[in-house]
Amino acid sequence: MRFKEKVVVITGGANGIGLAAARGFVQEGAKVLLVDRDAAGEQVAAALRAEGHDVAFHQADVTRAAEVQAYVKAAVDRWGAIHCFFNNAGIEGHVRAIHEQDEEVFDRVIAVNVKGVFLGLKYVLPVMIGQGGGAVVNTASTAALVGSAGLGPYTASKHAVLGLTRSVSAEVAKQGVRINALCPGPTDTRMIHSLEDQAHAMGANDVAERYQAAIPLGRYATAEEVAAMVLFLCSDAASAVTGAHFLVDGGRTAAPGGSAWR
Ligand SMILES: NC(=O)c1ccc[n+]([C@@H]2O[C@H](COP(=O)([O-])OP(=O)(O)OC[C@H]3O[C@@H](n4cnc5c(N)ncnc54)[C@H](O)[C@@H]3O)[C@@H](O)[C@H]2O)c1
Repeated sequence: MRFKEKVVVITGGANGIGLAAARGFVQEGAKVLLVDRDAAGEQVAAALRAEGHDVAFHQADVTRAAEVQAYVKAAVDRWGAIHCFFNNAGIEGHVRAIHEQDEEVFDRVIAVNVKGVFLGLKYVLPVMIGQGGGAVVNTASTAALVGSAGLGPYTASKHAVLGLTRSVSAEVAKQGVRINALCPGPTDTRMIHSLEDQAHAMGANDVAERYQAAIPLGRYATAEEVAAMVLFLCSDAASAVTGAHFLVDGGRTAAPGGSAWR
Protein backbone atom coordinates (compact mmCIF):
# COMPACT_ATOMS: atom_id res chain seq x y z
CA MET A 1 0.00 0.00 0.00
CA ARG A 2 2.70 2.47 -1.05
CA PHE A 3 0.10 4.99 -2.26
CA LYS A 4 -2.50 4.94 0.52
CA GLU A 5 -4.25 8.35 0.61
CA LYS A 6 -2.16 9.56 -2.36
CA VAL A 7 -3.75 11.35 -5.31
CA VAL A 8 -2.50 10.32 -8.75
CA VAL A 9 -3.29 11.96 -12.10
CA ILE A 10 -2.63 9.91 -15.24
CA THR A 11 -2.90 11.29 -18.79
CA GLY A 12 -3.56 8.70 -21.47
CA GLY A 13 -5.14 6.77 -18.61
CA ALA A 14 -7.92 5.10 -20.60
CA ASN A 15 -5.70 2.58 -22.39
CA GLY A 16 -2.38 0.80 -22.53
CA ILE A 17 0.45 1.79 -20.19
CA GLY A 18 -1.59 4.55 -18.51
CA LEU A 19 -4.40 2.14 -17.66
CA ALA A 20 -1.96 -0.50 -16.38
CA ALA A 21 -0.43 2.15 -14.12
CA ALA A 22 -3.89 3.17 -12.89
CA ARG A 23 -4.62 -0.44 -11.95
CA GLY A 24 -1.30 -0.67 -10.12
CA PHE A 25 -1.83 2.60 -8.24
CA VAL A 26 -5.37 1.78 -7.04
CA GLN A 27 -4.27 -1.67 -5.89
CA GLU A 28 -1.82 0.13 -3.62
CA GLY A 29 -4.40 2.51 -2.17
CA ALA A 30 -4.24 5.56 -4.48
CA LYS A 31 -7.10 7.78 -5.59
CA VAL A 32 -6.73 8.18 -9.35
CA LEU A 33 -7.92 10.71 -11.92
CA LEU A 34 -7.81 9.22 -15.41
CA VAL A 35 -7.40 11.88 -18.10
CA ASP A 36 -7.89 11.00 -21.74
CA ARG A 37 -9.44 12.33 -24.91
CA ASP A 38 -10.97 8.86 -25.36
CA ALA A 39 -14.43 8.80 -23.74
CA ALA A 40 -13.92 5.08 -23.03
CA GLY A 41 -12.13 6.29 -19.92
CA GLU A 42 -15.57 6.74 -18.32
CA GLN A 43 -16.27 2.98 -18.51
CA VAL A 44 -12.74 2.22 -17.30
CA ALA A 45 -13.23 4.47 -14.27
CA ALA A 46 -16.67 2.95 -13.58
CA ALA A 47 -15.19 -0.56 -13.66
CA LEU A 48 -12.46 0.41 -11.19
CA ARG A 49 -15.04 2.10 -8.91
CA ALA A 50 -17.10 -1.10 -9.02
CA GLU A 51 -14.04 -2.87 -7.58
CA GLY A 52 -14.14 -0.41 -4.67
CA HIS A 53 -11.48 2.05 -5.81
CA ASP A 54 -11.70 5.86 -5.70
CA VAL A 55 -11.31 6.69 -9.41
CA ALA A 56 -12.68 9.47 -11.62
CA PHE A 57 -12.41 10.20 -15.33
CA HIS A 58 -11.88 13.61 -16.90
CA GLN A 59 -12.09 13.87 -20.68
CA ALA A 60 -9.47 16.26 -22.05
CA ASP A 61 -7.14 16.85 -24.96
CA VAL A 62 -3.68 17.40 -23.42
CA THR A 63 -2.74 19.85 -26.19
CA ARG A 64 -5.31 22.42 -25.04
CA ALA A 65 -4.25 24.62 -22.12
CA ALA A 66 -7.80 25.24 -20.89
CA GLU A 67 -8.48 21.48 -20.80
CA VAL A 68 -5.23 20.82 -18.95
CA GLN A 69 -6.13 23.49 -16.38
CA ALA A 70 -9.54 21.85 -16.06
CA TYR A 71 -8.15 18.36 -15.31
CA VAL A 72 -5.77 19.79 -12.73
CA LYS A 73 -8.68 21.65 -11.11
CA ALA A 74 -10.84 18.51 -11.20
CA ALA A 75 -8.23 16.56 -9.20
CA VAL A 76 -7.66 19.36 -6.69
CA ASP A 77 -11.40 20.07 -6.25
CA ARG A 78 -12.09 16.39 -5.61
CA TRP A 79 -9.14 15.39 -3.42
CA GLY A 80 -7.27 18.58 -2.48
CA ALA A 81 -3.82 17.57 -3.80
CA ILE A 82 -1.84 15.88 -6.60
CA HIS A 83 0.94 13.71 -5.16
CA CYS A 84 1.88 11.81 -8.35
CA PHE A 85 1.50 12.82 -11.97
CA PHE A 86 2.00 10.31 -14.79
CA ASN A 87 2.39 12.63 -17.80
CA ASN A 88 1.91 9.88 -20.34
CA ALA A 89 -0.48 10.60 -23.24
CA GLY A 90 1.20 10.15 -26.60
CA ILE A 91 0.70 9.25 -30.24
CA GLU A 92 2.97 7.53 -32.74
CA GLY A 93 2.24 9.41 -35.96
CA HIS A 94 3.08 7.85 -39.30
CA VAL A 95 5.81 5.39 -40.23
CA ARG A 96 7.39 6.78 -43.39
CA ALA A 97 10.47 8.56 -44.71
CA ILE A 98 10.76 12.20 -43.63
CA HIS A 99 10.09 13.57 -47.12
CA GLU A 100 6.78 11.68 -47.13
CA GLN A 101 5.64 12.83 -43.68
CA ASP A 102 2.55 15.06 -43.62
CA GLU A 103 3.08 18.45 -42.02
CA GLU A 104 -0.21 18.15 -40.10
CA VAL A 105 0.78 14.77 -38.65
CA PHE A 106 4.18 16.15 -37.63
CA ASP A 107 2.45 19.08 -35.90
CA ARG A 108 0.05 16.74 -34.11
CA VAL A 109 2.81 14.43 -32.86
CA ILE A 110 4.74 17.39 -31.49
CA ALA A 111 1.55 18.90 -30.02
CA VAL A 112 0.52 15.77 -28.10
CA ASN A 113 3.94 14.38 -27.15
CA VAL A 114 5.77 17.64 -26.39
CA LYS A 115 3.25 20.44 -25.82
CA GLY A 116 0.96 18.06 -23.90
CA VAL A 117 3.82 17.14 -21.56
CA PHE A 118 4.83 20.82 -21.24
CA LEU A 119 1.28 21.91 -20.37
CA GLY A 120 0.94 19.12 -17.84
CA LEU A 121 4.13 20.28 -16.12
CA LYS A 122 3.12 23.94 -16.34
CA TYR A 123 -0.18 23.42 -14.53
CA VAL A 124 0.55 20.48 -12.19
CA LEU A 125 3.87 21.72 -10.78
CA PRO A 126 2.40 24.79 -9.01
CA VAL A 127 0.06 22.43 -7.13
CA MET A 128 2.95 20.18 -6.10
CA ILE A 129 5.17 23.12 -5.11
CA GLY A 130 2.29 24.59 -3.09
CA GLN A 131 1.77 21.38 -1.15
CA GLY A 132 5.50 20.87 -0.52
CA GLY A 133 6.37 18.11 -3.00
CA GLY A 134 5.35 15.42 -5.42
CA ALA A 135 6.58 13.01 -8.07
CA VAL A 136 6.22 13.25 -11.84
CA VAL A 137 6.95 10.63 -14.49
CA ASN A 138 7.02 11.85 -18.09
CA THR A 139 6.64 9.11 -20.69
CA ALA A 140 9.49 9.29 -23.19
CA SER A 141 10.63 6.13 -25.02
CA THR A 142 13.74 4.34 -26.20
CA ALA A 143 13.10 6.75 -29.10
CA ALA A 144 14.33 9.47 -26.73
CA LEU A 145 17.81 7.91 -26.87
CA VAL A 146 18.29 6.37 -30.31
CA GLY A 147 17.02 7.02 -33.81
CA SER A 148 14.48 4.93 -35.67
CA ALA A 149 14.17 5.08 -39.46
CA GLY A 150 10.61 5.98 -40.46
CA LEU A 151 9.78 7.52 -37.08
CA GLY A 152 11.47 10.94 -37.34
CA PRO A 153 8.67 13.07 -35.85
CA TYR A 154 8.00 10.62 -33.00
CA THR A 155 11.72 10.29 -32.25
CA ALA A 156 12.16 14.07 -32.21
CA SER A 157 9.19 14.42 -29.85
CA LYS A 158 10.53 11.86 -27.38
CA HIS A 159 14.04 13.40 -27.40
CA ALA A 160 12.24 16.63 -26.44
CA VAL A 161 10.48 14.93 -23.52
CA LEU A 162 13.86 13.90 -22.15
CA GLY A 163 15.14 17.48 -22.53
CA LEU A 164 12.11 18.84 -20.67
CA THR A 165 12.53 16.26 -17.92
CA ARG A 166 16.20 17.05 -17.35
CA SER A 167 15.74 20.83 -17.35
CA VAL A 168 12.57 21.07 -15.30
CA SER A 169 13.69 18.54 -12.70
CA ALA A 170 16.48 20.93 -11.74
CA GLU A 171 14.02 23.83 -11.39
CA VAL A 172 11.86 22.15 -8.76
CA ALA A 173 14.13 19.71 -6.94
CA LYS A 174 14.63 21.97 -3.93
CA GLN A 175 10.86 22.36 -3.61
CA GLY A 176 10.50 18.62 -3.09
CA VAL A 177 9.28 17.71 -6.57
CA ARG A 178 10.98 14.85 -8.39
CA ILE A 179 10.65 14.46 -12.17
CA ASN A 180 11.88 11.44 -14.11
CA ALA A 181 11.46 10.08 -17.63
CA LEU A 182 10.18 6.62 -18.45
CA CYS A 183 11.69 5.03 -21.56
CA PRO A 184 9.69 1.99 -22.60
CA GLY A 185 10.81 -0.12 -25.50
CA PRO A 186 8.24 -1.89 -27.67
CA THR A 187 5.31 -2.64 -25.38
CA ASP A 188 2.24 -4.73 -26.07
CA THR A 189 -0.41 -2.01 -26.46
CA ARG A 190 -2.44 -0.51 -29.30
CA MET A 191 0.53 1.66 -30.26
CA ILE A 192 2.98 -1.12 -31.12
CA HIS A 193 0.33 -2.92 -33.14
CA SER A 194 -0.36 0.31 -35.06
CA LEU A 195 3.35 0.54 -35.89
CA GLU A 196 3.35 -3.12 -36.98
CA ASP A 197 0.30 -2.51 -39.20
CA GLN A 198 1.85 0.58 -40.79
CA ALA A 199 5.11 -1.27 -41.55
CA HIS A 200 3.13 -4.21 -42.91
CA ALA A 201 1.09 -1.90 -45.17
CA MET A 202 4.38 -0.61 -46.61
CA GLY A 203 5.30 -4.14 -47.66
CA ALA A 204 7.29 -5.41 -44.69
CA ASN A 205 6.71 -9.03 -43.70
CA ASP A 206 6.82 -10.76 -40.32
CA VAL A 207 6.99 -7.38 -38.62
CA ALA A 208 6.00 -8.50 -35.11
CA GLU A 209 8.44 -11.41 -35.25
CA ARG A 210 11.31 -9.22 -36.46
CA TYR A 211 10.61 -6.46 -33.93
CA GLN A 212 10.64 -9.00 -31.11
CA ALA A 213 13.73 -10.83 -32.41
CA ALA A 214 15.63 -7.52 -32.07
CA ILE A 215 14.89 -7.48 -28.33
CA PRO A 216 17.32 -9.55 -26.21
CA LEU A 217 14.43 -10.79 -24.05
CA GLY A 218 12.77 -11.90 -27.29
CA ARG A 219 9.38 -10.29 -26.68
CA TYR A 220 7.51 -7.04 -26.12
CA ALA A 221 7.17 -5.80 -22.56
CA THR A 222 3.69 -5.90 -21.08
CA ALA A 223 2.01 -2.67 -20.03
CA GLU A 224 2.11 -3.98 -16.44
CA GLU A 225 5.89 -4.45 -16.58
CA VAL A 226 6.29 -0.84 -17.72
CA ALA A 227 3.79 0.40 -15.11
CA ALA A 228 5.84 -1.25 -12.35
CA MET A 229 8.66 1.24 -13.08
CA VAL A 230 6.21 4.16 -12.88
CA LEU A 231 5.04 3.05 -9.44
CA PHE A 232 8.63 2.70 -8.23
CA LEU A 233 9.55 6.18 -9.49
CA CYS A 234 6.49 7.68 -7.76
CA SER A 235 7.14 5.84 -4.50
CA ASP A 236 9.18 6.94 -1.49
CA ALA A 237 11.75 4.27 -2.39
CA ALA A 238 12.83 6.64 -5.20
CA SER A 239 13.23 9.64 -2.87
CA ALA A 240 16.73 10.51 -4.19
CA VAL A 241 15.87 9.87 -7.85
CA THR A 242 15.21 12.87 -10.08
CA GLY A 243 16.15 14.16 -13.53
CA ALA A 244 16.91 10.63 -14.71
CA HIS A 245 15.55 8.28 -17.36
CA PHE A 246 14.69 4.62 -16.94
CA LEU A 247 14.59 2.01 -19.68
CA VAL A 248 12.08 -0.84 -19.64
CA ASP A 249 13.01 -2.31 -23.01
CA GLY A 250 14.04 -5.94 -22.61
CA GLY A 251 17.66 -4.97 -23.29
CA ARG A 252 17.00 -3.57 -26.77
CA THR A 253 18.91 -0.30 -26.39
CA ALA A 254 21.87 -2.01 -24.70
CA ALA A 255 22.32 -4.48 -27.57
CA PRO A 256 20.43 -3.36 -30.69
CA GLY A 257 21.29 -6.60 -32.52
CA GLY A 258 19.21 -8.41 -29.94
CA SER A 259 19.02 -12.16 -30.21
CA ALA A 260 19.09 -12.21 -34.01
CA TRP A 261 22.13 -14.53 -34.13
CA ARG A 262 20.32 -17.35 -32.33
N1 LIG B 1 3.60 0.89 -26.72
C1 LIG B 1 4.88 1.13 -26.96
O1 LIG B 1 5.56 0.31 -27.60
C2 LIG B 1 5.53 2.37 -26.42
C3 LIG B 1 6.93 2.43 -26.43
C4 LIG B 1 7.55 3.59 -25.94
C5 LIG B 1 6.80 4.65 -25.45
N2 LIG B 1 5.44 4.55 -25.47
C6 LIG B 1 4.70 5.71 -24.96
O2 LIG B 1 3.84 5.30 -23.92
C7 LIG B 1 2.75 6.23 -23.82
C8 LIG B 1 1.46 5.45 -23.74
O3 LIG B 1 1.26 4.76 -24.96
P1 LIG B 1 0.55 3.32 -25.05
O4 LIG B 1 1.54 2.37 -25.57
O5 LIG B 1 -0.13 3.03 -23.77
O6 LIG B 1 -0.48 3.60 -26.24
P2 LIG B 1 -2.08 3.75 -26.26
O7 LIG B 1 -2.42 4.28 -27.59
O8 LIG B 1 -2.68 2.48 -25.79
O9 LIG B 1 -2.38 4.84 -25.13
C9 LIG B 1 -2.19 6.22 -25.35
C10 LIG B 1 -3.33 6.96 -24.67
O10 LIG B 1 -3.13 8.36 -24.85
C11 LIG B 1 -4.39 8.95 -25.19
N3 LIG B 1 -4.18 10.19 -25.93
C12 LIG B 1 -3.60 10.34 -27.16
N4 LIG B 1 -3.63 11.63 -27.52
C13 LIG B 1 -4.24 12.31 -26.51
C14 LIG B 1 -4.56 13.68 -26.28
N5 LIG B 1 -4.28 14.62 -27.21
N6 LIG B 1 -5.15 14.02 -25.13
C15 LIG B 1 -5.46 13.07 -24.20
N7 LIG B 1 -5.20 11.77 -24.36
C16 LIG B 1 -4.58 11.40 -25.49
C17 LIG B 1 -5.07 7.88 -26.05
O11 LIG B 1 -6.47 8.09 -26.14
C18 LIG B 1 -4.70 6.61 -25.28
O12 LIG B 1 -5.62 6.33 -24.26
C19 LIG B 1 2.87 7.14 -25.04
O13 LIG B 1 3.46 8.37 -24.65
C20 LIG B 1 3.80 6.38 -25.97
O14 LIG B 1 4.48 7.23 -26.84
C21 LIG B 1 4.80 3.45 -25.92
